[in-house]
Amino acid sequence: DTPALVDRFGRHATDLRVSLTDRCNLRCTYCMPAEGLDWLPKPDLLTDDELVRLIRIAVTDLGVTDVRFTGGEPLLRPRLEDVIAAVAALTPRPRLSLTTNGVTLARRAAGLVAAGLDRVNVSLDTLDPARFRDLTRRDRLDDVLAGLAAAHAAGLAPVKVNSVLMRGVNEDEAVPLLRFCLDNGYHLRFIEQMPLDPQHGWDRGEMVTAGEILAALGTAFSLTAHPQERGAAPAERWLVDGGPATVGVIASVTRPFCASCDRTRLTADGQVRNCLFGRTETDLRAALRGGASDAELAGLWRGDAWAKAAGHGIDDPGFHQPDRPMSAIGG
Ligand code: GTP
Ligand code: 5AD
Ligand code: SF4
Repeated sequence: DTPALVDRFGRHATDLRVSLTDRCNLRCTYCMPAEGLDWLPKPDLLTDDELVRLIRIAVTDLGVTDVRFTGGEPLLRPRLEDVIAAVAALTPRPRLSLTTNGVTLARRAAGLVAAGLDRVNVSLDTLDPARFRDLTRRDRLDDVLAGLAAAHAAGLAPVKVNSVLMRGVNEDEAVPLLRFCLDNGYHLRFIEQMPLDPQHGWDRGEMVTAGEILAALGTAFSLTAHPQERGAAPAERWLVDGGPATVGVIASVTRPFCASCDRTRLTADGQVRNCLFGRTETDLRAALRGGASDAELAGLWRGDAWAKAAGHGIDDPGFHQPDRPMSAIGG
């Protein structure tokens, strides 16, 4: 047995993404229908103790160094701060981050920092209140902006902003979004939309590409390639007007970073996945509730990692989306 989470292609999974709930308090049109989805039944969700046990195994036995909490919307998980504090107490202490829509971040930021959270990524696709309402089906732009400011003030650093640009919706906001983030000290990344929506409405030809985004930014800023080694980071980074400010582009579709992927995932219902787009999951919840030892759980996790495919295969002729939408897998 190798100690770490390795696969046949020599990649090491050191970045664990934990989905804490499949629920959300927004309804972004590209992610969920207005009525929501069939939420996971409560008994299927890992309890806090189960969750912390699995994360402990990942950190102490499997070489995970970074833990990111996602959803759905992770701030909807009750007692999230307690989970974070328990994970922050592990040795070696992992770096802890959160990916959130920011809606309730303003009143949680200070407590999250106190619990041990290091940094936060906040989704924000538009700065226009009416557009925000149309896109997320909720009138919460001011709350998200307050959440960003509170995260920054609480010392979460860096504060990253994730923006998905969509044709005919917000594709004209590349420049204003970057100006806003530069003005406030947030690190902006634009994300190519991926085929992970429950409505199966994704259309490659309609997707706003990294190339288009860079061209739009080039009309207002001068971008130069960031000198720093990219490593396993999903974002390609650019210096804005010579730096030090940067902008990132996560071009999962047109420039996949699968070859350097360092991720493993745990869903809110206790399934381990080796890829966002993977066809298989390993049921750690059943094993755990059936009395498996730490060593047995670690072994199952290693087996899952080993089976990881070379890439997401979005461009393969037989590609079909994973059975679960992104909100249930964890972003
Ligand atoms: P850091 O760079 O560590 O801050 O995090 P991140 O960018 O990986 O995390 P975040 O949750 O902010 O995700 C940003 C975008 O990257 C989202 O659209 C994710 O769905 C996408 N993403 C995250 N993990 C993967 C992955 O394994 N594969 C692909 N293709 N996209 C991913
Ligand atoms: N493709 C790319 N990014 C997506 N997100 C949600 N759905 C998709 C998709 N299909 C983004 C959210 C959030 C991040 C976690 O993932 O906007 O910023
Ligand atoms: Fe919620 Fe994120 Fe999906 Fe929007 S993209 S509905 S914020 S889970």
